[in-house]
Amino acid sequence: MLKPIGPLGFVKALLRIIRGKPRVPPALAGNALLNTILSRRSARNYDSRPIPDDVFDAILEAARVAPSTVNLQTWSFAVFTAASWRDTFGRPIPFKAQRAVIVMADTHRARSVFEAFPHSPLVEYTIGVMNASLAAMNMNLAAEALGVSSVMLSETGRSGLLDAGYLKETLGLPDGVIPIMTIVFGYARGARPPMPPRLALDQICFEKRYVEPDPGLMRRWMEEMMAGYKAAFPTSSFEAQLRVYQSKIGQAEQELRRLVLGHSTDTDR
Ligand SMILES: Cc1cc2nc3c(=O)[nH]c(=O)nc-3n(C[C@H](O)[C@H](O)[C@H](O)COP(=O)(O)O)c2cc1C
Repeated sequence: MLKPIGPLGFVKALLRIIRGKPRVPPALAGNALLNTILSRRSARNYDSRPIPDDVFDAILEAARVAPSTVNLQTWSFAVFTAASWRDTFGRPIPFKAQRAVIVMADTHRARSVFEAFPHSPLVEYTIGVMNASLAAMNMNLAAEALGVSSVMLSETGRSGLLDAGYLKETLGLPDGVIPIMTIVFGYARGARPPMPPRLALDQICFEKRYVEPDPGLMRRWMEEMMAGYKAAFPTSSFEAQLRVYQSKIGQAEQELRRLVLGHSTDTDR
C-alpha cells in the first residue's frame, strides 16, 4: 500500500521535480542529439495538425535501422492514421494523436530463418522485446528531432501490452508475435511538462558489486512520482493507475503466456 503524502510533502516533492533538470557539461550543451534526448518528454495532449507523410516515413525509417541482436530485426509495426485507427478500434487514437504505431516483438523470427536456432521461449522473448523496444526508442527520438511529440503506451484501453489477446485477434497476430506497446504521435499542445522524477546516477550505477538503492531516497522518489502524477492529472491518481494494472494483469499474463509459449503452454506448466 502506498503511503499518502501530506500537503507540505506534496509541495516539497513538486519543487524537487521542477529543480530536477538533466545535467549537461557546459562544453556539450550545444550538442543537438544530446539535447533532443535530454529534452524529450512524453506528450499526452495534441492539436489537430496532421503529420506530413514524409515526416512520418522518416520516423518509421528510424525504426527500420535500429540495432538488434544478430541483426535479427525481431519486430513488426502496425501503422495507423487517425482514420484507420478509428476504423480498427472504433474510437480516436489516445490523446487525439494523429498517428499511431503498435510495436510488435516477433519472438519467432530467429527460428523462422534458422531452423537450428534452439527453442528457448524466455531467451527468444527477451531478445524480441529488447530489439523491438530499441526500434520504438528510435521512432520516439526521430519524431522528437523532427518536432513531433509522442508517448509510448502499454495501457491504452484496448491497444496496449495488457490487451495482447484482443490485439492478436484484431491484427491477426500469429503465436510468437507479441504487441509490446503503442506509440502515438502528434504535435503537442501547450508547454512541455517538467521531467518526471529520475533516480540519481549514484543510485543506479555501481562498481564491481551491485548496491541496493538507498531506501530513504527510494521513498522520496515515490513521493515525487505521486505528487507529479497528481499535478499532471488532478482528476486521477497514481493509485488509480495501479488499480488498472491490478485489474487487468492476471488476464494479460495468461494471454502473453499463450502468445509467447503457443501450444507448449500446457506442457510447460
Ligand atoms: C514501455 C512504456 C509504456 C508506457 N505506458 C504508458 C501508458 O500506458 N500511459 C501513459 O500515460 N504513459 C506511459 N508511458 C510513458 C511513461 O509514463 C513516461 O515515459 C515516464 O513517466 C517518464 O516521462 P517522460 O517520458 O516524459 O520522460 C510508457 C512508457 C514506456 C517506455
